[in-house]
Amino acid sequence: MDVSIDFAAENLTKKGFLDLEIDPTLDLFAEIEKLKKEKNAILLAHYYQEPDIQDVADYIGDSLGLAQKAAETKADIIVFAGVHFMAETAKILNPNKKVLLPDLKAGCSLSDSCPPQLFKAFKDKHPDHLVISYINCSAGIKALSDIICTSSNARKIVESLPEDQKIIFAPDKNLGAYINKVSGREMVLWNGACMVHELFSLEKITKLKERHKEAMFIAHPECEDAVLKQADFIGSTTQMLNFTAESEHNTFIVATETGILHQMQKRSPNKTFIPAPPDNSCACNDCPHMKLNTLEKLYLCMKYEQPEILMDEDLRIAAQKPIERMLQLSKELGIV
Ligand code: 13P
Ligand code: SF4
Repeated sequence: MDVSIDFAAENLTKKGFLDLEIDPTLDLFAEIEKLKKEKNAILLAHYYQEPDIQDVADYIGDSLGLAQKAAETKADIIVFAGVHFMAETAKILNPNKKVLLPDLKAGCSLSDSCPPQLFKAFKDKHPDHLVISYINCSAGIKALSDIICTSSNARKIVESLPEDQKIIFAPDKNLGAYINKVSGREMVLWNGACMVHELFSLEKITKLKERHKEAMFIAHPECEDAVLKQADFIGSTTQMLNFTAESEHNTFIVATETGILHQMQKRSPNKTFIPAPPDNSCACNDCPHMKLNTLEKLYLCMKYEQPEILMDEDLRIAAQKPIERMLQLSKELGIV
């Protein structure tokens, strides 16, 4: 038995990630590339990951793009540089592949705001409603849902349903309220929210807009209505990125997690990107969950193939149906 792997497993149970010493002279970028080839592994990363991780990823995307990539990959191992619900979604779609997450504690406040047992009681009070859940939720919530959506396809999925269809939307009340507003629907909303997107300060944004009158203000629909009302553009992370690259404007105030600025700057090196300020003095528009992943943890995770996402098979099968429905609907509605 490989003693170092045994040691690694013991460290993992305590901390949720491998806590081993790494030779500081090691070129982690080269090592990660080597491990990808050796193990036939694909590295998927969300835009909110730190720049180093984005730079070594095979694919960087929003939640929909990442789920679509996970569904089509031929790799033997999926390494997910994101948060738990994203890696879990990849596992639900790939029961026979190994799915790794550099830090098992990389959770999501929005997902945590919707515990399955409470949601089940809520759902039981609305027996004639269809359940659409934002992908930022646990497998337990997905298993209680009819269709999954992301911020890039939520509006089109909701609007594809008959107007008189009663709908519960969970767990993000801000995204749900935004979809209600633009679609004219009256979906019943679960009272959940993202700790990062709820913190933007309208007062500071207004001041910033005054100071940069030339700037476009762009926001993610997880932000509160008061912030969204001020936005020139609202969209998922990929949609925001594409908007900045295609726009003739040169300055953007960006209301979402700061990780996306790395790709915005790469796509448009001559444009200026200003992170929208939160309502306190800390860097709270960094997602503390996303930022738990580091290049070091990523390297160790690929080397020792831990931590791995493991799931109960009945739960996986129940959660797979509404995700497959989302992927099928996205294809039919032309959302890529
Ligand atoms: P998208 O990547 O779908 O825009 O969602 C943002 C988010 O908060 C992911 O956790
Ligand atoms: Fe969850 Fe918000 Fe972090 Fe996204 S940014 S992972 S929604 S807490």
